[in-house]
Amino acid sequence: MIKEKKIAVLGLGYVGLPLAVGLCSSYKTIGFDISLDRVSQLLKGIDKTLEVKETKLKNCLKRKLIVTNNFKDLKNCNIFIATVPTPITESCEPDLKPLKDVCKTISKLLKKRDIVVFESTVYPGATEEICAPILEKNDKNLKSGKDFFLGYSPERVNPGDKIHTIDKIDKVISGQNKMVEKVLFEIYSRLTKGKVFLAKNIKVAEASKVIENSQRDINIAFINEVAKICNKLNISVYDVLNASSTKWNFLKFKPGLVGGHCIGVDPYYLAHKSSKLKIDPKVILSGRKTNNEMPTFIAKRIDEKLKRKSKVLFLGLTFKEDVPDLRNSKSFEIISFLKNKQHTIKLHDPYVKSDNLQLVNLKKIKNNSFDAFILAVPHKFYLQRMDFIKNFLKSDGIFFDIKGKVSAKRDKNFNYWSL
Ligand SMILES: NC(=O)c1ccc[n+]([C@@H]2O[C@H](COP(=O)([O-])OP(=O)(O)OC[C@H]3O[C@@H](n4cnc5c(N)ncnc54)[C@H](O)[C@@H]3O)[C@@H](O)[C@H]2O)c1
Repeated sequence: MIKEKKIAVLGLGYVGLPLAVGLCSSYKTIGFDISLDRVSQLLKGIDKTLEVKETKLKNCLKRKLIVTNNFKDLKNCNIFIATVPTPITESCEPDLKPLKDVCKTISKLLKKRDIVVFESTVYPGATEEICAPILEKNDKNLKSGKDFFLGYSPERVNPGDKIHTIDKIDKVISGQNKMVEKVLFEIYSRLTKGKVFLAKNIKVAEASKVIENSQRDINIAFINEVAKICNKLNISVYDVLNASSTKWNFLKFKPGLVGGHCIGVDPYYLAHKSSKLKIDPKVILSGRKTNNEMPTFIAKRIDEKLKRKSKVLFLGLTFKEDVPDLRNSKSFEIISFLKNKQHTIKLHDPYVKSDNLQLVNLKKIKNNSFDAFILAVPHKFYLQRMDFIKNFLKSDGIFFDIKGKVSAKRDKNFNYWSL
């Protein structure tokens, strides 16, 4: 059993940074990231993901947390937790490069009895089939399960969600043997105030995570299909959902754009493994297909309602509300469709700072200057300022509320559209 735990967190993004910050109050913790930009910002107390507040980060840096770009600073660590991205390739296959790279880094640091834990979302089997052989390519000829040990603990944080924070989410843990299970139980129960679930083995824990997100994707896909049907029926899907939700066991999913790097990505990991096992992942991939078609479906409905060459204010560019994350955001598909139809699209997002996107300043917009608004991502920022923003719309302008967020407050003067 490891006496003094020194923990390395490798990959300080949306998942790794809050984890390192949470761990450093109980353990010596070193956060490592290959991005020099990310490390230098963090050292100044700046977290551009907005998951950790500046004062908290600075306090941690003053006390126990070390943040570094030099992997050699991890040489005295005995527990390595990898929180690197697991994206997909252009052909929607798992892109395991960051995962393989981090294994190569850890392999150079491994000592006898060290524990290597993966938090990145993978398909079942990846930790033992992909990561272990790379870790075993070490100078000391250390073998997995004999000299060093593996664990897997999927992350479930929901960026932008200030209620279900890392300390309030039950943590699934798994280990190669009882010793790893015990160590992970101790570490993670401090982080989550005891809410830890021990999965039967690593493969079970890996599968549990990837099916959570795949299930969500499939459920949203069903409601997106319902939204298309309702559109043809000339009824609002939200009105239908309000009625159906009164049944005790109706699942409350909403239609919408599925972007980001979890829900729209993880099902491909499950589908990949499924295909390898010669099981056709029909349901998983059909959900993906339906959700991938939604931006074009929505853009077409909007274009049908717009006059030729309309001037449109597009509100919300990130992949979901109240986060600064632009990865795999479906807003851009709607924007390029409408631009191709010769509409003029002005962009705004309070969370995005970019010179390339040429965002408008809301304070400089004149009243009655737009033919339409598209509220694509209903950040709280917009919902709290609707009375101000609606002045920019011409009297016959149309308000497209993709997620139906302001429908309850529908203004009679608005020409309003939602799914
Ligand atoms: N963001 C989420 O909401 C969320 C939730 C649950 C699970 N996950 C999973 O957690 C994992 C991490 O996701 P994320 O959103 O934190 O990613 P991210 O892109 O925000 O952060 C990953 C960090 O890892 C760094 N990195 C990349 N390769 C590295 C390497 N070889 N060594 C060290 N650092 C490296 C990057 O520079 C980046 O800062 C993914 O598998 C993701 O699917 C994410």
